[in-house]
Amino acid sequence: MPVQRDDVYSGIRGQSVLERFRLDGKAAVVTGAGQGIGRAFAHALGEAGARVAVIDLDRGRAEDVAKELADKGIESMAGQADAAGPASIEEFVNEVVRRFGQLDIAVNNAGINLNSAAEDTTPEEWDMVHNLNVRGVFLACRQQARVMFPQGYGKIINTASMASIIVPHPQKQVSYNVSKGAVVTLTRTLAAEWADRGIRVNCISPGIIRTALIDQSPELAPLVGQWVATIPAGRIGEVTDLQGAIVYLASPASDYMTGHNLVIEGGQTLW
Ligand SMILES: NC(=O)c1ccc[n+]([C@@H]2O[C@H](COP(=O)([O-])OP(=O)(O)OC[C@H]3O[C@@H](n4cnc5c(N)ncnc54)[C@H](O)[C@@H]3O)[C@@H](O)[C@H]2O)c1
Repeated sequence: MPVQRDDVYSGIRGQSVLERFRLDGKAAVVTGAGQGIGRAFAHALGEAGARVAVIDLDRGRAEDVAKELADKGIESMAGQADAAGPASIEEFVNEVVRRFGQLDIAVNNAGINLNSAAEDTTPEEWDMVHNLNVRGVFLACRQQARVMFPQGYGKIINTASMASIIVPHPQKQVSYNVSKGAVVTLTRTLAAEWADRGIRVNCISPGIIRTALIDQSPELAPLVGQWVATIPAGRIGEVTDLQGAIVYLASPASDYMTGHNLVIEGGQTLW
């Protein structure tokens, strides 16, 4: 049998599979990147070669993470913005494009949780969660796509949650669960609408990940032991458990994947 000198043998455009995970020359933005999952995403994208804009409601946190990246030799910028506000969304996307000259990777990660039994949840609480977790994510995707259309290429990755698939318990969080289900449907819908213009839209659904959202919540922190008993992997997740996935979804290695909900939860949805 002669050697087949095709893309499998030689790599696509001569790039081996690991080279197709590289993000050199790309410009990325991550919201809610001042701590937790967003911070880990920002580091991962930067380590893979991207320039990274760190956006957070808290200016100090955004600046600290941008500095961490710069310390590692990664080109970065910090921006304070409310990812729930239409005007500030438009502003931060435009600012990133002004600074980096392009936008190839957009990670809409900022989100809030609210623990409240369904029968006690007020319209104001519902709106607060949905304004950031759903409406803000939609408006950000819309603004990012408007930049990406003329480029003919772009990767949008939204942070959903395992709560889009199962009802996490025993905590009660109806607004959050519904909002994350909506992120998955939003992702699928935008993926279908924009695929022919080169834009890939996917989401990541983390299981229970050790961050301030859990550790600093008086309702959630005591539940960790109970949750672990329901996780086949036998532990809750760390933010570093999500870093490979964000690089994959941001990179050319995943160019044929769109509208996907990538669930990373140590098997918790299996039982
Ligand atoms: N931690 C988990 O177990 C878990 C599981 C599934 C999904 N998620 C999702 O992952 C995302 C990040 O969660 P995390 O655990 O890192 O949270 P976190 O609370 O530790 O960090 C969230 C960051 O977002 C920022 N932020 C909050 N509101 C904002 C706004 N309006 N505009 C801009 N930034 C804002 C905060 O200042 C903070 O730095 C959220 O969408 C969350 O729903 C988390």
